[in-house]
Amino acid sequence: MKTVLVTGGAGFIGSHTCLRLLEDGLEVFVIDSFVNSNKQSLHKVLKIFSDSFKDKQNKIHIYEGDIRDKNLLIKIFKEAQILKKPIDGVIHFAGLKSVKESCKDPLLYWNNNLIGTISLLNIMEEFNCRKLIFSSSATVYKYNSNKLINENEKLNPSNPYGQTKLAIEKILYELSNKKEDKWKIISLRYFNPVGAHPSGLIGECPNGIPNNIFPYICGVAIGKFDYLKIFGNDWPTHDGTGIRDFIHVMDLAKAHTLALNHLKKLENQFLVINVGTSIGTSVLDLVKTFERVNKCKIKYVFSNRRDGDHARVVADNSLLLKTFGWEPKFNLEEMCKDGWNWQQKNPNGYD
Ligand code: NAD
Ligand code: UFG
Repeated sequence: MKTVLVTGGAGFIGSHTCLRLLEDGLEVFVIDSFVNSNKQSLHKVLKIFSDSFKDKQNKIHIYEGDIRDKNLLIKIFKEAQILKKPIDGVIHFAGLKSVKESCKDPLLYWNNNLIGTISLLNIMEEFNCRKLIFSSSATVYKYNSNKLINENEKLNPSNPYGQTKLAIEKILYELSNKKEDKWKIISLRYFNPVGAHPSGLIGECPNGIPNNIFPYICGVAIGKFDYLKIFGNDWPTHDGTGIRDFIHVMDLAKAHTLALNHLKKLENQFLVINVGTSIGTSVLDLVKTFERVNKCKIKYVFSNRRDGDHARVVADNSLLLKTFGWEPKFNLEEMCKDGWNWQQKNPNGYD
């Protein structure tokens, strides 16, 4: 594969993945509406890349717009052909991702995530481009036990955001069943991505008050918020707080480049793969590690459990290890160090 289209490439995971793609020598086309991101992230990606790979000529072509805009998608595929760099495959990150917002405004989520994906798939068919990596989520599972979650676990997302991910996976599965076309698709179900590129030039940049624990901890550390509310200290876990599977965003980005390489081995196939470390960390463990590594104090209070939360969500990642030979390079300490480095260097994100 030489050229890839990355939808939502300016976002948190997309920007880190674009960097890895460039480092691997790929030509990258990005479409992003910047509804939840900033073009600066891509300029920073180019800076990191050109500072360390002065001899490589491949680059990012940036298109501002919505994946529901079919004319824009057609323009991108055509311009890539004119440049003699036809798009071989797509990594599809573009989507809205807030569980809370999706409960308030489900139509917004169905429209953006589902209609957006259908629009993309239609244009891919039109251009005979049938290789796809899709950003799915651990939220598609119906968690009902304490064991590691493998890909055969029952599915039943408890929120509209997760329902859109599951519905998209169903469409992708049906495409892979088409006899006449050879769709090769991998859906990656991410667990909890955190951290940032070690340079501190790119990182997570949520709009408004973050819903997720990691950017909230960073916000407390930098003085944006007075304290962290820990949702529940009565969960059936070793310290009563929720347990999650945190994964460094650089390790997650690497999983995408491995997945792209793996596509060529597939025949009319749809693969679903968990992307996590299989290591469970409680909210309190995370707070304490962040404090120790970054020599700072995170004030917190315990509050009620958050609706829809679960005690323990940790991936069984054996399929990921076996299929891609992936292994994590960054531990929890590095996640905390790199996330804080990004936050300190960019207290107001990319602004
Ligand atoms: P993000 O919000 O930082 O990135 C998503 C990007 O998509 C943004 O740049 C946004 O502007 C863009 N976008 C949204 N709708 C668009 C549209 N219709 N057309 C064009 N661009 C659009 O989120 P992220 O954390 O980088 O997540 C990337 C993907 O991974 C998302 O699909 C998300 O649902 C999924 N995911 C994220 C997490 C997580 O915790 N970060 C976990 C599981 C799955
Ligand atoms: N938490 C707090 N206080 C906060 C925020 C979170 O105590 O201010 C706790 C939660 O109760 C939970 C843990 O921190 O125990 C992790 O919560 P996050 O919101 O950071 O992450 P979730 O695991 O709930 O959800 C995230 C994404 C979903 C995605 C899922 C995949 O938000 O979109 O990971 O596992 F689907």
